[in-house]
Amino acid sequence: RTVYVNGNYLPEEEATVSIFDRGFLFADGVYEVTSILDGKLVDFAGHAARLERSLTELDMQSPVSMEALLDIHRELVARNGIEQGMVYMQITRGSDGDRDFVFPDPETTKPSLVLFTQAKELVDTEAAQKGNRIISVEDIRWGRRDIKTVQLLYPSMAKMMARKAGADDAWLVQDGFVTEGTSNNAYIVKDGKIITRNLSSDILHGITRTAVLKFAREAQMKIEERPFTIDEAKAADEAFTTSASAFVMPVVSVDGATLGDGAPGPVARRLREIYIAEMR
Ligand code: PDD
Repeated sequence: RTVYVNGNYLPEEEATVSIFDRGFLFADGVYEVTSILDGKLVDFAGHAARLERSLTELDMQSPVSMEALLDIHRELVARNGIEQGMVYMQITRGSDGDRDFVFPDPETTKPSLVLFTQAKELVDTEAAQKGNRIISVEDIRWGRRDIKTVQLLYPSMAKMMARKAGADDAWLVQDGFVTEGTSNNAYIVKDGKIITRNLSSDILHGITRTAVLKFAREAQMKIEERPFTIDEAKAADEAFTTSASAFVMPVVSVDGATLGDGAPGPVARRLREIYIAEMR
């Protein structure tokens, strides 16, 4: 695989960053995951806009322009011949060679830019056919989930709790209400209405969420943007999640309670179909 590091396209074995990079020492960095369908990037503009916002919120600057980032994405997809999968892009604050809680001077310390591709079947997946089983776990992440930082230890632990419990993924719960999934936005459907948490600093503003809600509105579906509880989720007709890496993923059970007949629901299936058709 060819990867990109700070201006260079290299074989992955030759790509290196400093052990002092603040991404490594402080999780001081941001990232984006953009999916690839038929060799083309899905909604790069949305990901670039969110990246710029994440960078601004952390007082960081991209070492290259958004246009250059798009070119690097395309170049990597082409070089690796990816038809379906993802491009991972990460910008960390770099380092001036010491470990210090104080940010290094941006005039003398350049951020590190790293990109790589991952080939992966995204459309015809067994997970989408079967749907995901979800457990709920407490949301103990920091309060700025709207910034897409590389601090992913707790989401990773939550996913492991789900796996140990025999489930596929976890939904995070704060003050009795679902915030989002470990790496996706969460939705329930009740009496034909789609319910998903409203945007705030409590959740990541999903690029897939924006697109899916737009398509749902265009299809005359009813949408309510508000927090919902796990009890509501357990009593829902169906549920699903959205993310760049799984598009619209049906959810078939929540904390052991089966939703509907235990198969992916009609709203989730329809939105998944619409999303994939519109994005390719
Ligand atoms: N995760 N919420 C969280 C906490 C996420 O990490 C993600 C994405 C989303 C969905 O956002 P989007 O639709 O823009 O992908 C919501 C990516 C895919 C990841 O970490 O792999």
